[in-house]
Amino acid sequence: MKFSLIPCVLVGLACSPSSALVSSRWKSDSETKTILPTAVTGDVTANFKSACSLDGSQLSAINNTAWDWWYFDAVSPDAKSNVVITFFTASATGFPFLPSPMVTQFELHSLLPNGTIFNVFIPAEEAVITTEGEGSSGDFKGANASWIGTPDLKHYKIVVNSPANGVIGTFNMRSVAPGHYPCGPVRSGENMMVAPEIGWANAVPDGIADVDFTLSGTKVAWKGVGYHDKNWSNQPFTDNVASWYWGHGRLGPYSIVWFDTLGADGKEYVSSYVSKHDEIVVSSCDAGSIKVRPSGVNSEYPPKVSTGNPGGFTIEIDLGKEGTMNVEVKVAAVSLQGLTLYTEWVGTMTGNVDGGKQMTGVASFEAFKVTV
Ligand SMILES: *[C@@H]1O[C@H](CO)[C@@H](O)[C@H](O)[C@H]1NC(C)=O
Ligand SMILES: *[C@@H]1O[C@H](CO)[C@@H](O)[C@H](O)[C@H]1NC(C)=O
Ligand SMILES: *[C@@H]1O[C@H](CO)[C@@H](O)[C@H](O)[C@H]1NC(C)=O
Ligand SMILES: *[C@@H]1O[C@H](CO)[C@@H](O)[C@H](O)[C@H]1NC(C)=O
Repeated sequence: MKFSLIPCVLVGLACSPSSALVSSRWKSDSETKTILPTAVTGDVTANFKSACSLDGSQLSAINNTAWDWWYFDAVSPDAKSNVVITFFTASATGFPFLPSPMVTQFELHSLLPNGTIFNVFIPAEEAVITTEGEGSSGDFKGANASWIGTPDLKHYKIVVNSPANGVIGTFNMRSVAPGHYPCGPVRSGENMMVAPEIGWANAVPDGIADVDFTLSGTKVAWKGVGYHDKNWSNQPFTDNVASWYWGHGRLGPYSIVWFDTLGADGKEYVSSYVSKHDEIVVSSCDAGSIKVRPSGVNSEYPPKVSTGNPGGFTIEIDLGKEGTMNVEVKVAAVSLQGLTLYTEWVGTMTGNVDGGKQMTGVASFEAFKVTV
């Protein structure tokens, strides 16, 4: 099944197709919200049904179990380096991988070409989030870090000027793959839950990312395979996830995003995405639409917390009429390790559709092993 751009229309609200022609109409819809560094008390609501503002803030506020963040990454064409940037509006009790109780934090980590990992968290005095059309912008004051996205999700620019923390530079990205939700394309009324109580919206499944940073005096500048998404919940992450495989990459002409998780309820939840020439080939959360399994060393599934890191992943994706895509992802390097629970890698991909022409590419991917 092929989707072309599906207009997002909300009755009574000027939320319109992704076209530069209507961007002036979006202007009037822009909405700004300020998030403070301390959590609120009491209940907060989370949106799990899309409403024409894919990249906006999806929680009414951040209480002590809530988390909502904007994630960007890029992997270099030689799969030896990456840059990962996250703008957090999250409680450390909701998402226990945060180093401080500040709700508003900026993080940048990078696998440098010499194999060293640079990682810094910078607290922000407040975060000002603006939603315009499907896109968003955020200003993390005091951290001197911000992103600006266009209403049609096609361009993103991150600027960081935090010399006190050793980070200066920019991340510019042009999307080459339409955004999507866990089960389908960008339009109103889509389910945004990728797993129980976990929201996910993928603004840029694949983009040409131009990174240009100075990190602790080291120049990091290249053009690579970029990505941007956001996830959120008003419930603690670890209440709902047992293990989780996620990643993205570019394989020949295809842009691929995979997600395969075991919920704390013991069920498997998946989301598959493949696009080609800026058109969606498949975007599905149906059981059987995708299967991701560890491969090589330590390929036990489901993984235990004590299971070592795998050598890679095997991915099988149902492309409908186009056949079955088989991808082998191979670890090139660990780009972040959080205790034994969390690992993020950069790596290479090889694959084909129905045993056809072998294609190659690079990928950025991660695994969580939370319980079991
Ligand atoms: C935050 O809000 C959610 C949703 O109403 C609620 O389930 C949760 O208990 C609240 N957390 C705290 C710490 O009050
Ligand atoms: C943020 O920018 C201001 C103005 O350029 C500068 O004085 C300040 O030191 C910067 N903050 C950090 C954390 O680098
Ligand atoms: C969720 O969050 C992780 C950690 O920041 C991020 O790498 C990933 O892209 C997100 N994916 C999904 C499917 O929620
Ligand atoms: C790699 O580069 C970083 C930043 O310049 C430096 O701090 C680190 O010592 C280098 N590591 C190695 C193994 O040379």
